[in-house]
Amino acid sequence: MSAADQRADGQPDAPALLELSGVVAGYGAISVLKGISLRVEAGEIVTLIGANGAGKTTTLMCISGVRPLTSGTIHFAGAAIAGLPAHEIVRCGVAQVPEGRKIFPRLTVLENLTMGAFTRRDGGVAGDLERILQLFPVLAERRRQLGGTLSGGEQQMLAIGRALMSRPRLLIMDEPSMGVAPLLVAKIFETIGRLNRDGLAVLLVEQNARLALKLARRGYVLETGTMVLTDRAERLLDHPRVREAYLGE
Ligand SMILES: Nc1ncnc2c1ncn2[C@@H]1O[C@H](COP(=O)(O)OP(=O)(O)OP(=O)(O)O)[C@@H](O)[C@H]1O
Ligand SMILES: [Mg+2]
Repeated sequence: MSAADQRADGQPDAPALLELSGVVAGYGAISVLKGISLRVEAGEIVTLIGANGAGKTTTLMCISGVRPLTSGTIHFAGAAIAGLPAHEIVRCGVAQVPEGRKIFPRLTVLENLTMGAFTRRDGGVAGDLERILQLFPVLAERRRQLGGTLSGGEQQMLAIGRALMSRPRLLIMDEPSMGVAPLLVAKIFETIGRLNRDGLAVLLVEQNARLALKLARRGYVLETGTMVLTDRAERLLDHPRVREAYLGE
């Protein structure tokens, strides 16, 4: 685990953008995460794959400060963030696109997007809004439409756009392809790739392991709360255990 987890570029001195170490977390007396470690370097796309109930969503909720840790540490850009309130973690530069999107159905597209900037005090919000409407033209067309009336794929774009409104350095996404038509999934993944080329780091949880591993640089495999495998994405695509359990081969 640790050898494969080392930086591929041979520069171990700089802190990772995101680093989880020995994270234990759960619900009540039940530990779901049994001491997991994971890192995301600046500008990297990393995917976390695993079966239903493995603990992927719990991992993301620990990072975004929605679930507390029992033990272990989480650092972002070198600073300990575990235990900070969720809005402080957003302010540090971590934005989450939650499982099931969780857009505000009775607010318009524009209002939903504006909500994403609630932690910001700078003057760049209007410019970022324009940029996001250009990134997702369908949202621009539907800017006055209520969020709840958008299609699944459009809602996913809205959730991504809302997360981007906090101007994150790391975007964490939980199952962005779920309930989205294949054509829109392709578009959404293309957009994630484009955002990444502009410097955004992404931690992607995705049921469609093939799609995720094709987009990501590295991946982690989580099985019942334990990290069992990590490697460069193209190697995981070839790994017998991954092929059998997650690629249906
Ligand atoms: N609020 C909760 N209370 C109690 N147990 C929970 C709660 N949320 C999740 N769990 C349990 O924690 C475990 C991990 O759940 P989690 O949602 O993190 O898995 P996941 O990997 O995201 O699964 P999926 O692929 O189905 O989204 C599961 O056994 C689940 O039943
Ligand atoms: Mg989940």
